[in-house]
Amino acid sequence: MTVMKIIWRSIVPTFSKGVVKPEAKPKKEVSKQSSFNRFAMLELSYPSSMLSEDLSISLAGSNLHIFTLGELKVITQSFSSSNFLGEGGFGPVHKGFIDDKLRPGLKAQPVAVKLLDLEGLQGHREWLTEVVFLGQLRHPNLVKLIGYCCEEEHRLLVYEYMARGSLEKQLFRRYSVSLPWATRMKIALGAAEGLAYLHEAEKPVIYRDFKASNILLDSDYNAKLSDFGLAKDGPEGDDTHVSTRVYGDTRLCCT
Ligand SMILES: Nc1ncnc2c1ncn2[C@@H]1O[C@H](COP(=O)(O)OP(=O)(O)O)[C@@H](O)[C@H]1O
Ligand SMILES: [Mg+2]
Repeated sequence: MTVMKIIWRSIVPTFSKGVVKPEAKPKKEVSKQSSFNRFAMLELSYPSSMLSEDLSISLAGSNLHIFTLGELKVITQSFSSSNFLGEGGFGPVHKGFIDDKLRPGLKAQPVAVKLLDLEGLQGHREWLTEVVFLGQLRHPNLVKLIGYCCEEEHRLLVYEYMARGSLEKQLFRRYSVSLPWATRMKIALGAAEGLAYLHEAEKPVIYRDFKASNILLDSDYNAKLSDFGLAKDGPEGDDTHVSTRVYGDTRLCCT
């Protein structure tokens, strides 16, 4: 995979906003982070005031695409209710479709677009944490962040579309056949592999939002962890201490 050597504010000045270089090779998915210099959240000096340009420079090489709000309106048909997928603490999520003419190097595909509710409980910090972690982490059992939008006060996230939605929906849907045990085991194993990847990384990540609604399923019931807005860097080396703070919602409480 492309090795990212990113240190905050010490990056390639040629990266231009809104464009992922077409010649950039697609990243290969890896199961270990051994050759991967992920930068830590702590290395971002002023996350709450971080500008879009600063972020795009920091994440140069991550293959994240930067979208305009106008583009995301087109992709989701103006966030129409017929494309509504669900809503959590961050804000509403809509299905959209990217065509292959939008960006060089970005293939035609369905996507899920998450829009920050400006009146909601979460804000820029959670959005930024999500972009920073998912922009750098790649694994078959983590949902793929395709890009983001940061325009004035608007904050959006664009993910690969997961055809079977969340595990919570699959488990608690009314009027449907319950999931076979073999499928449940496949989902449990996939989620565990996602967690193991985060915990065993060179710079470990503590996920802190492990719940059925954050385990997303593709059409083959492959499980992918989503929502890294509460994640934090884990202890490294001999360090064992992790500062704690109560987090979560009524379905989960973590420290
Ligand atoms: N990448 C995705 N693909 C398909 N559906 C998604 C995706 N991300 C989120 N969703 C849907 O949107 C709903 C809301 O997601 P989210 O904002 O993460 O809130 P929560 O995790 O609290 O349910 C999810 O339950 C899921 O059904
Ligand atoms: Mg979620």
